[in-house]
Amino acid sequence: MKLILIGFGVVGQGFAEILQNKAGQLPGFAPSIIGVITATKGSLYRSRGLDIGALLSAAQTGSFAAYPEQAGLRRDMTASDIISAGSADVLVELSPTNLDTAQPALAYCHQALEAGLHLVLANKGPVALDHANLRNKAASKGLQLRYEATVMAGTPVMQLAEEALAGCAIQAARGILNGTTNYILTQMEAGMSYTEALTQAQALGYAETDPAGDVEGWDAAGKVLILASALFGSRLKMSDLDVSGITRISSDDITEAKAAGQRYKLIAEATPNGGAVKAMRLPLSDPLASVAGSTNAITLETDLMGAVTLIGAGAGKLETGSAILSDLLAIQRVAGSG
Ligand code: HSE
Repeated sequence: MKLILIGFGVVGQGFAEILQNKAGQLPGFAPSIIGVITATKGSLYRSRGLDIGALLSAAQTGSFAAYPEQAGLRRDMTASDIISAGSADVLVELSPTNLDTAQPALAYCHQALEAGLHLVLANKGPVALDHANLRNKAASKGLQLRYEATVMAGTPVMQLAEEALAGCAIQAARGILNGTTNYILTQMEAGMSYTEALTQAQALGYAETDPAGDVEGWDAAGKVLILASALFGSRLKMSDLDVSGITRISSDDITEAKAAGQRYKLIAEATPNGGAVKAMRLPLSDPLASVAGSTNAITLETDLMGAVTLIGAGAGKLETGSAILSDLLAIQRVAGSG
């Protein structure tokens, strides 16, 4: 399975580390990274495959200039050149999320589907803003569009909803969908300042490249758009959602809630009628109140199963890389059975 990666930051490097560590442990799975395109480190292409260890070492220096020479290596190709070079099976989109336009990633996603590549995303922008068109294009070409990493990292909410619960009608999804803000709220309750907690969340690789998207609720809102489209077929826009974040919650507010036996959580909700992201005070008896740190949780309300709740990692390097691996294995299962 020949892969092109757009983006090689925290998630891309986490995914590459996983491939390096799991090589040979996944029977029949033989991935090869043939292209990597980044905004800041440069780009590399080699149709016979790049060396993952050398990619990771070069990334540590901040530039692919440190990647050693190899026969057939190209350093001058754009994302568009590499997609149209015709050697790859899957485009893996891992570049920073842009929830305003989803560009430039969205254009590459469409180009990849048109060129016959399956598409796997950790970047939320294209799925949040253009899921229906991407899904239709993939379906019309017999290609797979997978985006497990976009909601709750490798915690398998999309596979749960779309595959394991395929026979259930899902009526609502509600939960904690942003790791950064949950981490900040947890640390503030333990006495840390907002600024220090945010700095830690950035150092741990939870926060977006621009963390304003996390703390103002937009990252969770992007996930609401993804869920609304995937679960209900809704074509909502950001402006249809009621969104607020945690920036107005002070340490005093958190102490006051604690004294009243309550805890602030940033709750995201998607229903067939719309969606919202809002900080709420929950009683400690609410199961969501005990979801701490960067952990996420989601409850799916279903017709046949009642409430099904999934709790697990919501962000992080290996946790998000795990979702990419899971999606690629799913592509292989389907392609292999076809
Ligand atoms: N910044 C996101 C979060 C990353 O904190 O949840 C995972 O989507």
